[in-house]
Amino acid sequence: MTLNTDVKVDVNQELDFVNIGITTDNRQHIVEELNNLLADEHMLYTKTRNFHWNVTGPMFASLHLLFEEQYNSLQETADEIAERVRMLGGEAIGTLTLFLERTRLPESPLDQPNARTMVGRLLEDHESVINQLRQDIDVCTNRLDDVGTADLLTGVMRMHEKIAWMLRAHLQGEAW
Ligand SMILES: [Fe+2]
Repeated sequence: MTLNTDVKVDVNQELDFVNIGITTDNRQHIVEELNNLLADEHMLYTKTRNFHWNVTGPMFASLHLLFEEQYNSLQETADEIAERVRMLGGEAIGTLTLFLERTRLPESPLDQPNARTMVGRLLEDHESVINQLRQDIDVCTNRLDDVGTADLLTGVMRMHEKIAWMLRAHLQGEAW
């Protein structure tokens, strides 16, 4: 059997097929923003997992475990974001190339930083995502009539705020 690779799913047609009280234009806009966020979550997931593997020093045991908890949360969150894209009639991006094209976060350098710098870099990324999310929530609620996505993004923002708090707490007090 040969697969007919010429058949293309028209994403706009799928967007038109969804009738949930949010205009196609608005849903298109939200899908774009959610896919950008999905790319950021994958960048942060990969960076956190990289640091879980390569962290060294006196904080090894606790950071190794902390990073594992964090990348698991990021993975679950990414899944919810992608599924929201599908609920709105959009196509969730799912390739590393597209994640790299879309993410607004910097790639991790090839040289592994020390443990404290790892924590600082992750904190910066989480804070950057939190600031972006705060704007996205406002736009979803007040301009795009999508309280469902705003609710999802509020939970995502709270998760990032909790992780940011835990990372920040490591950088406060005595240096290690
Ligand atoms: Fe592991």
